[in-house]
Amino acid sequence: MPAFAPSLSLPLFDESVLADPYRAYGELRATGAAVRLEEYGVWAVSRHADVAKILKSPDVFASEGGIALTDLANQQILGGTVFASDGARHAKLRKVLSKQLAPRAMKNLADRIVARAEDLVATYTESGRFDAVALSRHMVCDTVMELMGMPGADREVLLSGAAATFDVFGPDNDRYQQALPLASRMVELLHDKLTRENVASGTWMGAIFEAVDAGQIEEADAIPLASAYTAAAIDTTVLGLADCIVQLARHPKQWQALRRDPVRWSAPAFHEALRLEAPIQGFGRRLTEPTTLGGVDLAEGEQVWLLYGSAGRDDRRWGDDANTYDIRRPRNDNHLAFGGGPHLCAGVPLAVLQARSILRALAARCTHLTLDGEPVRVLNNLLRGYSQAAIAVDLSPRTAAAGIDLPQARPQGPAS
Ligand code: HEM
Repeated sequence: MPAFAPSLSLPLFDESVLADPYRAYGELRATGAAVRLEEYGVWAVSRHADVAKILKSPDVFASEGGIALTDLANQQILGGTVFASDGARHAKLRKVLSKQLAPRAMKNLADRIVARAEDLVATYTESGRFDAVALSRHMVCDTVMELMGMPGADREVLLSGAAATFDVFGPDNDRYQQALPLASRMVELLHDKLTRENVASGTWMGAIFEAVDAGQIEEADAIPLASAYTAAAIDTTVLGLADCIVQLARHPKQWQALRRDPVRWSAPAFHEALRLEAPIQGFGRRLTEPTTLGGVDLAEGEQVWLLYGSAGRDDRRWGDDANTYDIRRPRNDNHLAFGGGPHLCAGVPLAVLQARSILRALAARCTHLTLDGEPVRVLNNLLRGYSQAAIAVDLSPRTAAAGIDLPQARPQGPAS
C-alpha cells in the first residue's frame, strides 16, 4: 500500500450520490489529488489540474483495460474499441472518421443542421410550451442517424442502447446489470442495419467499410467502431443541450444577452452548461507504471477514475463562483467535459454545431424561456442530465428579428 494514501468510503454510484454528486466531489477535492474509493477499488481524481494532466499522459495512464470499472466491460465489451485502446491501434481507429468530423466537414454540414434546427424549433415551440429533452433528442437522433447512414433505424432501441452503454462503464450494480442486454440490443440493431447493401457512401458507415476494404482496419472492427460513435454521439449531446436550455431558462438576463447577440453567445452558453454539468461525469484509466500524483503514490496496474463532473466545479480552476452558470465566464471552453489528450471527444465540432444551431433558432423565436415545473433527472452510472424539462416560451417572431431593443450584455459583472 502506498505511504500516503487518502481514502474514503463514498458510494459514488448509489442513487443518492448520482442524483446530487457535488457534495461528494467537494469532499474528494478537499481530501487529496487522488483518493482511494474503498467500495470500487479505484483512485478518484477530482481536481481540474490533475484530471487534465492525466489525460495528457496516456503512456502512464492507459485507456486499455482501464476505461470502465469492471473487467467484463474493459475486456469483453470495450476491449479493442476506440475508447479502450491506446497508441497505434487507437490512432488507426480514430483516423477512420476524422475527416467526417473535422471542422471543415462541419462547414459543409452547417446548412443542413441549421435548417433542421429551425424546423424543429418552429414545430416544438409553436404551442408555447416544449420539452427541452424531446427537442434535443429529436435534433441529435435525426443528425446522427443520417450521418451514420441508418435513417430508418428504430430510434428507441438506439436511445436506450446508447444510454445503457454508459451504465456499462460503471460498477457491477443493478443499473449495470439491467443495461447489459439493452447495450447488446443496440449492437445487434447496428449489425442488422449497417450492412454493405444498406449503407450509402458518404455516410460514416460508408467510410468505415471503405477503411476495411482499404485494409486500414479489420472487418471485425467495423460495427464496434460504428457502435462507439453512435453511443458517444447521442446522449452526451442530448443531455448537454437540454441542460443548457434549462440553465438559460433559469437565468433570464443571460438569455436576453444571448438573444441580443446569438452568434457570440451560443457557443459559450453551451460550454458553460457542459462545464457545470458534464454529461459524462467520469471515465477511468489504468496505470502502466508506478507514479505519484500530488504526493499520493499510485502503483502499476491500479486504476484512476477521472471525474470530469468534479473538474468543472473545481474552485482552484474556476474561482469562487465555480457553481454558478455564467455564459460570460472567460475561457469556459477550457472545461474537461469533452475529455482531453489523444482521447479528446471526436465529436466536439458536431456537438457544438448542433447546440449553436438550436440556441440560435430558439433565440430567433422566443423572447422568454421559463421553466414549467422542475426538470426530471435521469440517473445513469456515468451520464448526468434530464429525461424531461418542460419550458414555457413567449413567442415573438417580429421583435425577435435583428435590431430588437434588449438590455445590454455586459462583458463582465454579475450573471443571473
Ligand atoms: C456534448 C456532447 C459530448 C460530450 C460531453 C462528449 C464527451 C466525451 C468525453 C468526455 C470523451 C472522452 C473519453 C475519454 O476520456 O476516454 C469523449 C470521447 C469520444 N466522443 Fe464525445 N462527447 C460529446 C459528443 C460527441 C459526439 C457528437 C460524437 C460524435 C461523433 C462523439 C464521439 C466521441 C468518440 C468517438 C469518443 C472516443 C474518442 C477516443 O477515445 O479517441 N462525442 N466524448
